[in-house]
Amino acid sequence: MTDGARRRVVAIDGPAGSGKSTIARAVAERLGLPVLDTGAMYRAITLAVLEAGADPGDPAAATRIAADAGLEMEGGVVLGGHDVASAIRGPEVTAAVSIVAAHPEVRRVLVERQRRWIDAHGGGVLEGRDIGTVVVPDAAVKVFLVASDDVRARRRQADEADARRAVTVEEMREAMAQRDALDRGRSVSPLRPADDAIVVDNSRRGIDSIADEIAARFHEAAGGELEG
Ligand code: DC
Repeated sequence: MTDGARRRVVAIDGPAGSGKSTIARAVAERLGLPVLDTGAMYRAITLAVLEAGADPGDPAAATRIAADAGLEMEGGVVLGGHDVASAIRGPEVTAAVSIVAAHPEVRRVLVERQRRWIDAHGGGVLEGRDIGTVVVPDAAVKVFLVASDDVRARRRQADEADARRAVTVEEMREAMAQRDALDRGRSVSPLRPADDAIVVDNSRRGIDSIADEIAARFHEAAGGELEG
């Protein structure tokens, strides 16, 4: 990554359902930067693993599939030429993604792709779990988004309801707690705030107020040197 590109990065990390995508889009709009949903990348590789009939728990198979996958993140999520934006939100992928994302070699492949994306775009807003800690440790602004368990479960349940799957808020809360435990407990790149991240509670404040603050911090951090 070039210095200039990584200093034009906003890193947005946090657990499932904390509202990262909504905040990332609002910030990107204010700053005129593109967004990269890195969770969608882990999901796409997981879909490829399942479609290949491989075991998500097999690190060698998952790494080979990650390295060979024709994954395009421009204008959606495209895997081997097919739009998989909705397929990656299915229950099979959701159930297996934390297992695939825990393989260090899979992470190495995807982190490399994320850094190339940053260089190609001259910066951007990246959302994920390890953006501020691993992918871009010197991002201009690092945000760790949190929300109450209840708000997170309701938000995800509404997403699933859109996809016409019947899941109760209680089931959702349980599934999310399991996935969070895997994401927080893994030995490589566990979910945690970077030391210099600002922790923002998204159940207490509106989107506009949060996005305005992040955009202002970006301008402050970037100073005059990045203007224009
Ligand atoms: O944000 P999401 O629910 O789409 O993320 C899917 C999974 O991918 C989640 O279990 C955590 C993992 N992930 C990760 O390990 N690192 C990232 N940078 C982004 C997502």
